[in-house]
Amino acid sequence: MNQSTRVSLVTTPHKGIRNFLAQLSLQAGFTDYADRAAVEALKQRFEEICVLLEEHAASENNFILPALEARVPGSAAHDEADHEELHQLQDSLLAQLNHILDSNHTGQEARQLGYAFYQGLSRLHAGHLEHMLEEETVTQVLMWQHFTDEEMMQIHGQVIRSIAPPVMLAWMKYILPAQTPDERLQLLGGMQASAPAPFFRQVLGVAREVLPVSAYIQLEAGLTSAVAG
Ligand SMILES: [Fe+2]
Repeated sequence: MNQSTRVSLVTTPHKGIRNFLAQLSLQAGFTDYADRAAVEALKQRFEEICVLLEEHAASENNFILPALEARVPGSAAHDEADHEELHQLQDSLLAQLNHILDSNHTGQEARQLGYAFYQGLSRLHAGHLEHMLEEETVTQVLMWQHFTDEEMMQIHGQVIRSIAPPVMLAWMKYILPAQTPDERLQLLGGMQASAPAPFFRQVLGVAREVLPVSAYIQLEAGLTSAVAG
C-alpha cells in the first residue's frame, strides 16, 4: 500500500497547528503592545492555542510514543525532548506577555518588550514547524513500518476519546479551514457517524462560523448525500 494512502495520526492536528501558529504570529506582529486591551486579546488567543498545543503533546506522549517505543526502543526520546523544550519556551513566552500586562511600563518600554515577545514567538513557531515536519517524515514513517492501519486506528480512538468536547470544538475552529474539501468531509462524516448528535451540531456550528460560505455549502451537501446514500 502506498504510504500516502495509509492512516496518519498527525496530518489532521498538524494542519490545525500550522493554521493557528500562523494566525498567532500575524496577530503578534500587528498588536500595539502599549494598548492594554490589544495585549489582553493577544494573550487570550495565545492561551487558547497553548491548551491545544498541550493537548496535542499529551496525546503523543501518552498514546502514540509509548506504543512506538514498545516496538522500536529508543525511538520516542527525541520527540519527547522536543515536546519538553517547546513547552518551556511556551511558558516563558506567556510569562513575557504577563510581564507586559502586569508592570507599570511606559508605552515605549511596552513596545520594546512586545517586540522581544514577537521574536520569541517566532522561535516557537519555527520550532513547531520543524518538529511537526520531523514527526511526519520520521516518526510517522516508523509507525507505518511497525503498525498496521487497524492498530493505528485503535491508537487514534484512544487519542480522540481523551479530548474534552470544548477542546475538540477549539481544534475544529483551526483544523477545518486548513483542510482540503475531501479531508473535511471525511473528518466530519466520521464524527457524524460516531459522535452524539448535539455535539455534532455544535461542530457544524463551528464549521459555519469559520469556513467561507461556499466551502460550508459544499461540506453540508457532502454530509447530506452521505446520509441519504
Ligand atoms: Fe509532537
